[in-house]
Amino acid sequence: MKIRAAVLERFGEPLEVQELELAEPRVGEVLVRLAACGVCHTDLFAASGADPSGYSPTVLGHEGAGVVEAAGEEVRDLSEGDHVVTLFSPQCRECEHCRDPRTNLCTAIRGQQGLGYLPDGTTRLSRDGEPIRHFMGCSTFAEYTVMPEIALAKVSPDAPLDRACLFACGLSTGLGAAMNTANVQPGSTCVVFGAGMVGLGAVAGCRLQGAERIVCVDLSEDRLELARGQGATDTLVGGPEGVERVLELVGPLGADYTFEATGNVAVMRQAVESARMGWGLATMCGVAGKGEVLEVVPRFLITGRRVAGSSFGGCKGRDQVPQLVQRWLAGEIDVEPFVSHKLTLDDVNRGFELMEAQDGIRSVIDFA
Ligand SMILES: NC(=O)c1ccc[n+]([C@@H]2O[C@H](COP(=O)([O-])OP(=O)(O)OC[C@H]3O[C@@H](n4cnc5c(N)ncnc54)[C@H](O)[C@@H]3O)[C@@H](O)[C@H]2O)c1
Ligand SMILES: [Zn+2]
Ligand SMILES: [Zn+2]
Repeated sequence: MKIRAAVLERFGEPLEVQELELAEPRVGEVLVRLAACGVCHTDLFAASGADPSGYSPTVLGHEGAGVVEAAGEEVRDLSEGDHVVTLFSPQCRECEHCRDPRTNLCTAIRGQQGLGYLPDGTTRLSRDGEPIRHFMGCSTFAEYTVMPEIALAKVSPDAPLDRACLFACGLSTGLGAAMNTANVQPGSTCVVFGAGMVGLGAVAGCRLQGAERIVCVDLSEDRLELARGQGATDTLVGGPEGVERVLELVGPLGADYTFEATGNVAVMRQAVESARMGWGLATMCGVAGKGEVLEVVPRFLITGRRVAGSSFGGCKGRDQVPQLVQRWLAGEIDVEPFVSHKLTLDDVNRGFELMEAQDGIRSVIDFA
């Protein structure tokens, strides 16, 4: 079938909305009609050429939500009409990692996905017979996509898809960092560095876990206001003195749980140093630039702090994304303030501009 999609032709140049050919789903694959797709930093990172493993041409986008149009052979759990959220982090339920509660890093299709192919090593996307590679296994800046069943979470049909798409990446990443990776305990003190989509999700996750105190640190007063709306009990403007300011608020020993959601390695260090002596856990969510390292003075570790990293919030996507969506529908998570702009597919580059200007939290492409 013919579809319209936003193609990354050359790094550093605007995406081009073009007509492409999308082939039928093969064994274990599903054809999804996109309803909405968020514009995330990882798309911009790939488009800029800064990602060392990046490639072009490709169709970007990985924060998608839509409706199943057709299922290929041997698809077990999805059928036409099901509402789905795309998963750049799949869940096959069979590999060693999927069977272990300690990680969400499914290994089933990792190799091919990283190279831009579907699990059988080919693409469904093409242009005049030339294969076009997929992005993060999703390629959701497009009217339709073909994805493996294991990379789609079936969500309640009651969930508006132009909000549900946020659970495909940033929001679940933040919520899950608090709920899965750190497993914040009731009554604890938490500090979240960064109040973008990921940090605000982490604030909400700490609240859902029953944290007593949630300090959010950001450079923007507007974003700190949003953090208070998600449950932050205290807010701070960050900077080089971030650790001192945090310790003044939470006490000299530090916080039970800290979260980094900025991508800045200096802030990651602050998250480690703000964690409590004895048992503080610092969880890193941000993606640092190529070659950057996190500096940690070993004394902070010897005296009982621990450091963890969190990819997609440790969420096993097919199991947990539908549960998070249910909690949103039950009124426990307020998603409204996160959708700041609605765009058409043709405006996708505007989504990147808004992100660079830090105008709002998320732009969502609406295919309706
Ligand atoms: N681990 C994952 O699976 C995963 C998934 C999605 C995104 N990410 C990464 O998470 C990070 C956050 O993503 P986002 O979409 O929320 O980004 P964002 O840019 O919207 O938010 C980052 C926030 O950090 C704040 N900040 C910058 N410097 C600061 C400082 N010194 N002190 C305090 N706050 C500071 C900014 O003001 C901004 O509000 C990015 O690095 C992104 O690539 C990781
Ligand atoms: Zn993302
Ligand atoms: Zn797996």
